[in-house]
Amino acid sequence: MSNRTFTMIKPDAFSKGHSGGILDMILKSGFRIVALKMTKLSQEKAGEFYAVHKARPFYGELVDFMSSGPIIAAILEKDNAVADFRKLIGATDPAKADAGTIRKLYAASVGENAVHGSDSDENAKIEGDFFFSGLERY
Ligand code: RTP
Ligand code: MG
Repeated sequence: MSNRTFTMIKPDAFSKGHSGGILDMILKSGFRIVALKMTKLSQEKAGEFYAVHKARPFYGELVDFMSSGPIIAAILEKDNAVADFRKLIGATDPAKADAGTIRKLYAASVGENAVHGSDSDENAKIEGDFFFSGLERY
């Protein structure tokens, strides 16, 4: 099992000034930051990142939203990183997220839900490689 996952602070949380609070929760939960950057996805890049959802009815909205403003991307390290990070962020729909999770605290809706977290070791690697070169990881 790999010990790394990938995350993004999405445009909604970034624009509301929640980046510091979210990074603080991540660090206090025992994750080490391996790589970190602020960037903005083009429509094309956002579409590529979420290509797995291309057939879903919300795909267009998702691409518009994810390219609407800056994001913070990071690779995180911890034992059992993928599963533990999904637990920390909470359910996709913040109304269903457990108390104390990032989405419960910072997300407004199922579409604009503050953070991304990889759903498997395989996707964690693909998503980390999408944003970071080897020289950007420490
Ligand atoms: P993510 O990939 O961003 O970490 O979110 P997730 O695994 O919890 O949820 P996923 O099923 O992968 O969906 C990806 C993102 O698409 C948006 N979404 N909108 N309007 C809707 O019904 C809907 N459903 C999903 C969300 O931004 C979700 O995080
Ligand atoms: Mg997902």
